[in-house]
Amino acid sequence: MSVLPKKNHALNFLTESVLDQRVVNFWVQKFNPMWSTHEMLGRIVKKQSTAKDMVTLTIRCNKRMNFGLPGQHHPVIVEIAARRLERTYSLNRIDEQHVELTLKKVPQGAVSTWLCNVAEIGDVIEFGQPYGEMLCVTHPEKDVILLAAGSGITPMYSMIYDLVKTGQLKHYRLKLMYWVKHFEDVAFHSFFEKVAQQYPEFTYQVFCTQDAQTSSRLNEQHVTDCGDLHDTAVFACGPSGFVNSACELFHAARLFKSEAFTLSPLEISDTGTVTITLTKSQKMLEVPCGISLLEALEQANEKPVAGCRMGICNKCSCHKVSGVTQNILNQNQNSEPGSSLRICINSAKSDLVLDL
Ligand code: FES
Repeated sequence: MSVLPKKNHALNFLTESVLDQRVVNFWVQKFNPMWSTHEMLGRIVKKQSTAKDMVTLTIRCNKRMNFGLPGQHHPVIVEIAARRLERTYSLNRIDEQHVELTLKKVPQGAVSTWLCNVAEIGDVIEFGQPYGEMLCVTHPEKDVILLAAGSGITPMYSMIYDLVKTGQLKHYRLKLMYWVKHFEDVAFHSFFEKVAQQYPEFTYQVFCTQDAQTSSRLNEQHVTDCGDLHDTAVFACGPSGFVNSACELFHAARLFKSEAFTLSPLEISDTGTVTITLTKSQKMLEVPCGISLLEALEQANEKPVAGCRMGICNKCSCHKVSGVTQNILNQNQNSEPGSSLRICINSAKSDLVLDL
């Protein structure tokens, strides 16, 4: 009678060990680093320069890949010096198995620098689930304006590439307005020019903000040039300062969707510290004001869950029990108790109690 429980115990042990996905992955990846029970993995098969400090990686994905829709973002996870780091990028699907990842090297950006300078053909990277609402094909408006600044061009490229590939572009009046510092920063220029030649209803303009003769930041005149916006869908992607201006200037559009991929330098001049009470981990921490709560908690050696770090994926969202916070993107303050808070884009204005 005592044999059976022993066998069960051994079996349970084996089952738990063998079926633990991480253990299985560890062993199967000894044979093929692209095999996984659950991870979306991709191997770099091509690397090319797209513009100044910008590269495009062509990546062959494994069978687990959940390809996002054109315009969406994916978490991209790489291991650098034994640390798993995650950043968010827009991917462009080019066929059944391959995606392109175009990214710009960001000063002090560990992941972008690694992908631009160190990553080689054959390296394997991991993806997270796609997310985001920059999806012009899911909206009925046929007049569409795409506003892109810097790396904000990548979701726009992905949408236009897909519309061309699927033959749908002819159904849209689509205007792409693209801001860069210098002309050498323009990515996909020949592609957009070719599309503009082929489709009379597609227009493409580049604005160089730091080339003396052509300097032209987003302003009222650009809105006026777009004409009546009442039936127009506007999508904007770029640094948060650009996206905020676009949101204000294009307020008359029927639909406005945006994603900011960097936080503008804080205008919050707060100094000093506040006390944050973390209810789940039962800690009280003194953290600096004037920076995002995510950053402040990380500086205090906490490891809150985070993904995009720019207010899109919602992974860092937590329940705020009490206290006043300020949104870094739009400077709005929130003193509502019991509200949901994205700690990557909010800073503390008072002592806080968070369910973390
Ligand atoms: S980490 Fe993505 S919204 Fe905060």
